[in-house]
Amino acid sequence: MTESCIGRRHDVNARLLQRLITKMTDRTVTIYFMSGTGNSYRVASWMRDYCMKQANASVAVTPIERANPAVEIKDSPDSLLGIVIPTHAFTAPWHVIKHVLFLPRRKMTRAFCVATRAGLKLGSVFPPGLSGSGTFLISLILALKGYRVAGVASIDMPCNWIAAHPGLASASVTAIEARAKPKALEFIEKICEQSGKIIAVGTTSVRTLESLYWIGCKIIDFPSIEPSNLSVNQWEPYQQNYQHLTVNESFKALLDFMKRHNLRELDTSTQIIIIPGYDFKVISGMITNFHQPQSTLLLLIAAFLGDDWKKIYEHALKNNYRFLSYGDSNLYLK
Ligand SMILES: Cc1cc2nc3c(=O)[nH]c(=O)nc-3n(C[C@H](O)[C@H](O)[C@H](O)COP(=O)(O)O)c2cc1C
Repeated sequence: MTESCIGRRHDVNARLLQRLITKMTDRTVTIYFMSGTGNSYRVASWMRDYCMKQANASVAVTPIERANPAVEIKDSPDSLLGIVIPTHAFTAPWHVIKHVLFLPRRKMTRAFCVATRAGLKLGSVFPPGLSGSGTFLISLILALKGYRVAGVASIDMPCNWIAAHPGLASASVTAIEARAKPKALEFIEKICEQSGKIIAVGTTSVRTLESLYWIGCKIIDFPSIEPSNLSVNQWEPYQQNYQHLTVNESFKALLDFMKRHNLRELDTSTQIIIIPGYDFKVISGMITNFHQPQSTLLLLIAAFLGDDWKKIYEHALKNNYRFLSYGDSNLYLK
């Protein structure tokens, strides 16, 4: 891909695109749960829906007694194992501890543990349940078995007594669940975000990767577009009313387009300008040098960092960091 303003070239081939798609998506999530009154199952289902819709993962939610871990848990950084269970007597149920003790060893698989607890509503107060050692114990066993523990959480759900008498306290049940769901989703979102981050090396890579997203959108909106018309204009991302696509959908459209046209490499150009207000679609971070004042590249940095860019540049100036091409570098992360 050519950046028309400065004439640098970045090769984008089908293999690279496939790797990007795989890195951002195609995760396998296996959630094992145990559930008496359905709370833990409900939490596991919220997480499944999130992973499928937002992270495009393939997800299986399976009760512990029907699990086949040797087959279901892959040893891969793209594979995520979740254990979602109720708290019993301030710890994890023995049935669950035994299940986790017999899980196969893994080196690369990430894992998380969520325990639901007895949440209550007393007037406007929501006293928390008491989780005790449950999530700690399960994550310790997982870590000893080689899993990379990505997080633990305790979620207050309607306690068994309320759930058994919904007629008495349906308002409490609804209120407790309304607080529990965002907490569960925020947790799984953070876990999913930890993998699949794309870090661009250099601002040219940033512009190339972001341009690819817009090219994918164009292909979806104009399926009969010719390869010679794929280029991205300077202001196109700000002006066009493209459908709201996930990066995965956009890259898949691009890959399909390349297959349809028998293209192993994409040869097109971009004039994309990234300025404050731009919504980054692909990258979660970048490595780059310090740029010249009043340059478009500094605008790109400001778009990524917001006002924080000023603090970073002030620090660099005060401490005699070297600027421009052969100067010092930064790693910026979202
Ligand atoms: C035998 C038993 C022990 C429990 N012990 C605790 C506890 O120590 N702390 C707590 O917060 N909740 C405790 N609870 C409540 C459950 O953990 C809570 O209601 C959970 O959300 C139930 O999940 P489930 O519907 O998936 O079984 C206990 C429930 C049972 C049945």
